[in-house]
Amino acid sequence: MPSVAVSQRSRVRVVTIDRPDRMNALDHHTVGEIGRVGHELAADPATSLVVITGAGDRAFSAGADLKERATMTEDEVRAMLGQYRSEFAWLSSSPFPVVAAINGAALGGGLELALACDLRVAAEHAILGLPETSLGIIPAAGGTQRLPRLVGPQKALELVLLGTRLTAAEALSIGLVNRVAPSGTNVVDDAIAWLSPVAEGAPLAVRGALEALRAAATMPLEAGLDAERRAYEACLTSEDRREALLAFQEKRKPVFRGK
Ligand code: COA
Repeated sequence: MPSVAVSQRSRVRVVTIDRPDRMNALDHHTVGEIGRVGHELAADPATSLVVITGAGDRAFSAGADLKERATMTEDEVRAMLGQYRSEFAWLSSSPFPVVAAINGAALGGGLELALACDLRVAAEHAILGLPETSLGIIPAAGGTQRLPRLVGPQKALELVLLGTRLTAAEALSIGLVNRVAPSGTNVVDDAIAWLSPVAEGAPLAVRGALEALRAAATMPLEAGLDAERRAYEACLTSEDRREALLAFQEKRKPVFRGK
């Protein structure tokens, strides 16, 4: 049974975790599907933006599939942690931005998946948290590393030690999400509309900006400045850069071709 569905809206691809009866929890098969789908999309030059969401409106993902987890040996759990890391790796190297459209609960591994994305938009009713310590474990799909980088070490410590569940408004106030979809709007539609300048923008510039900003999250300053310079170089020699300068002179909108 496929547990991840991909649909297309112009140059945007929407990846939907499709296990609503289990609150879109991440079992072994689904984590593998997220990796497989990601690699296919990353190889498709027609993709300019990826949205990851969950089926229904109750959960983005309730994290590890606790029913599956109860049947696993310790070695199988160890292997699963490695699988999270390898199957989510494309999210930090994709040539397009990935946005999590958080349509409901994003807990544990579900929030960790959202943290591995470039951007996060939450529905008004979403709840977000890393409750692992209340289950006798710790977040280990990147949560202890990505959360402090996003919200600061003190806030992250508080959220992980207490397993706090935040509302969308609270998550917005600490920078855990970039945006809360306005009341009455669908969070996927809202994310796509909000990011339309990206989907319709100059692909090489979007890619270069992503590379440089992702480097900032992991590299010391000097190495990051080198990464920024390399990313600029790819834009400098592009037809799209010349087209933008011409369009400015001719007082029209540029037509970008990704070359
Ligand atoms: N793994 C497997 N199944 C899960 C699940 C998970 N992480 N989270 C929810 N489900 C299942 C429930 O067992 C239930 O199935 P059932 O009807 O067969 O018993 C179904 O999804 C609906 O969940 P329910 O708790 O009844 O819905 P709710 O709307 O009251 O609450 C949540 C939704 C997500 C807030 C709640 O289910 C929850 O807290 N889940 C656990 C989240 C968690 O601790 N994740 C961290 C894992 S490390």
